[in-house]
Amino acid sequence: MSSTAQKARIVIDKAFKIAEVDKRIYGSFIEHLGRAVYGGIYEPSHATADSLGFRGDVKELVRQLGVPIIRYPGGNFVSGYDWEDGVGPVELRPKRLELAWRTVEPNEVGTNEFMRWAKEVGSEVMMAVNLGTRGVDAARNLLEYCNHPSGSYYSDLRRSHGYEAPHKVKTWCLGNEMDGPWQIGQKTPVEYGRLAYETAKAMRLVDPDIELVSCGSSSTGMPTFPEWEAVTLDHTYDVVDFVSLHQYYGNRDNDSANFLARTMDLEHFIHTVISTCDYIKAKKRSKKTMYLSFDEWNVWYHSNQADAKIEPWSVGPPQLEDVYNFEDALLVGGFLISFLRHADRVKMACLAQLVNVIAPIMTENGGRAWKQTIFYPYLHASMYGRGTSLQPIVDSPKYDAQDYTDVPYLESAVVYNEEDEELTVFALNRHLQDALDVECDVRGFEGYRVVEHIVLEHDDLKAVNTAAEENVKPHSRGNAECKDGFVHTRLAKASWNVIRLKRA
Ligand code: AHR
Repeated sequence: MSSTAQKARIVIDKAFKIAEVDKRIYGSFIEHLGRAVYGGIYEPSHATADSLGFRGDVKELVRQLGVPIIRYPGGNFVSGYDWEDGVGPVELRPKRLELAWRTVEPNEVGTNEFMRWAKEVGSEVMMAVNLGTRGVDAARNLLEYCNHPSGSYYSDLRRSHGYEAPHKVKTWCLGNEMDGPWQIGQKTPVEYGRLAYETAKAMRLVDPDIELVSCGSSSTGMPTFPEWEAVTLDHTYDVVDFVSLHQYYGNRDNDSANFLARTMDLEHFIHTVISTCDYIKAKKRSKKTMYLSFDEWNVWYHSNQADAKIEPWSVGPPQLEDVYNFEDALLVGGFLISFLRHADRVKMACLAQLVNVIAPIMTENGGRAWKQTIFYPYLHASMYGRGTSLQPIVDSPKYDAQDYTDVPYLESAVVYNEEDEELTVFALNRHLQDALDVECDVRGFEGYRVVEHIVLEHDDLKAVNTAAEENVKPHSRGNAECKDGFVHTRLAKASWNVIRLKRA
């Protein structure tokens, strides 16, 4: 523990209610990319494989995370994907050149297999449709294939493929990152807005119970942000339920104080999208509130150079295999804190991705599966961040970083689970040298006491986990104590903390 400490205060009260947390903010993402599917969730020759070829060891780790929803099948992949290639007898499925990532897609795993896998790990599926090379027709047919019970061409086709019951996929993304020059079939905002509107209309005629996500900008850095949101939502506002946000951060300059302050940019992103949605709402005199689906987020930069060296046209190459370090886990905690503090508008979020590809879970082909550093904050939020999000009033010392000023050292989010009489304080100390002595006013929670103080800390910001060694893992030896309505604790420098209180 650090010898010096600064001081911070948090006030928590039941009255400071933000909203119920939609558990889908703990979603994730599996794309047909690299070894996410082939060698990740699916490897028929693996010792733990089930009858469909899915790895049992990976299923077990996914189940541990309690992932409520998984986006599929892309990502950039979806913009060139013909879903028909991935259904029916496996031996008849074509191998295709996959242009987004320049691999060969064998189509051994497709819609039905993925649905079955998702069910087994306890997740819903958030399906994306191809609005790059395809459009209204392919989208409405896929929806009919998935959700219509029977008695029509595509629903009966599904049944003939051995899936009698409809998959009942509720949430659908209208394309992926359609603003990006890298996207196959990139669109201008007007082109996308029109296409997304017409696709949404047709899809809602097939199944009125679905929820739809309109594509937002690919990141805050896009030159068309936030005009893209304004123009596209002007078209799609009445027929969609969510707008998407995507954001990845990296620490290329090795400036950790600046890297950990990236949540300032994240906050700006979320605020700007909310404002843009509300502007369109006002313009349309609409009563409907648009929600945010942060359906791609993570740290992504470690693997960039290695990816440039991968030869094209193989099945399941090791693409985007970021090996995450301890400071990455801290920023992932920061992301989750931001989502919780915007629980009134951010209703879905997907950690991108889930296995091997910029992922909390890694595997060896034919071998072991293990937890990366970022597994832990994600696990903690998913386990303990369910209930009502309360706004903590935080008084923290601040610092100036390269790109941001007045960055509070202490970031916090609070979730109250009334039914289980449990209160959880998530706290990130991003001070790299000093501990923080925190006093937390919980006088509104009479009879509550600390039952666990989980800490993720490490002396080396660059420490990583490997198949052989788990260097970065949490312990429950945090020193939080509750006395006379105040929690007192010393948060170690650069640490992620989960302080759990329960009524005695
Ligand atoms: O998650 C990796 C890629 O990042 C996705 O395919 C794309 O949507 C984003 O650019």
